[in-house]
Amino acid sequence: MRRKLVVGNWKMHGSRLANAELLAALLAARPFAADVAVCAPAVFLSEVAASLAASDIRWGAQDVSAHEQGAYTGELSAAMLQEVGCRYTLVGHSERRAYHAESDQLVAQKAQAALAKGVTPIVCVGETLAEREAGQTDAVVKRQLSAVIHQLAHCAAEMVVAYEPVWAIGTGRTASPEQAQAVHAVLRAQLQAATGRGDSMKILYGGSVKADNAATLFAQADIDGGLIGGASLKAADFIAICRAAQ
Ligand code: PGA
Repeated sequence: MRRKLVVGNWKMHGSRLANAELLAALLAARPFAADVAVCAPAVFLSEVAASLAASDIRWGAQDVSAHEQGAYTGELSAAMLQEVGCRYTLVGHSERRAYHAESDQLVAQKAQAALAKGVTPIVCVGETLAEREAGQTDAVVKRQLSAVIHQLAHCAAEMVVAYEPVWAIGTGRTASPEQAQAVHAVLRAQLQAATGRGDSMKILYGGSVKADNAATLFAQADIDGGLIGGASLKAADFIAICRAAQ
């Protein structure tokens, strides 16, 4: 039985005050049956780390550089994330693929850079609406995942995968549990074929997960939790989603 994981993706939201209130509410709502983590803007990571240090709630970053160190203005290395205690980093979120032109290859290199420092990459894959309507969903997510599997080679089983259909992110339009499950099953089969450990790997669903649809999504056989954007910023909603993951 895979333990569920719920990860909040704060994106470019938050402030010292708002973060402190959110984390205090989250801490007070423990224990959860699932593992819980928050991916905060980098500038707040040390404070988030301090707030959560004595708890079982984990934290992570939203991106990492593919490079180890050097003249890469504005970037953050995996070693830096490791030093402040990041357990996770997102890589290849569709917003980074779309707005920062991140290729499958770059995403794969970022995942490798993170793993090399012991930071678990949460590798995001997902199709656009046009790709879904053209019947390309499976091919697109398999291509995105394949690049990472190839790069990580024998370490591929260490990553977490998040299936996030682009058309469902921040739109209020969630994939149906059946649509999500179908893609998760495809991804799990691919992971199993590549690593032999696909059955124990976590595949999260993301895209307009809310308190009222989380339980049905998380009940699907191959959905091991969620990557939560908008709803992770509201304590009551995020707590309800964490509680829906058993
Ligand atoms: P959303 O975002 O929950 O606001 O749709 C999910 C994500 O982008 O990770």
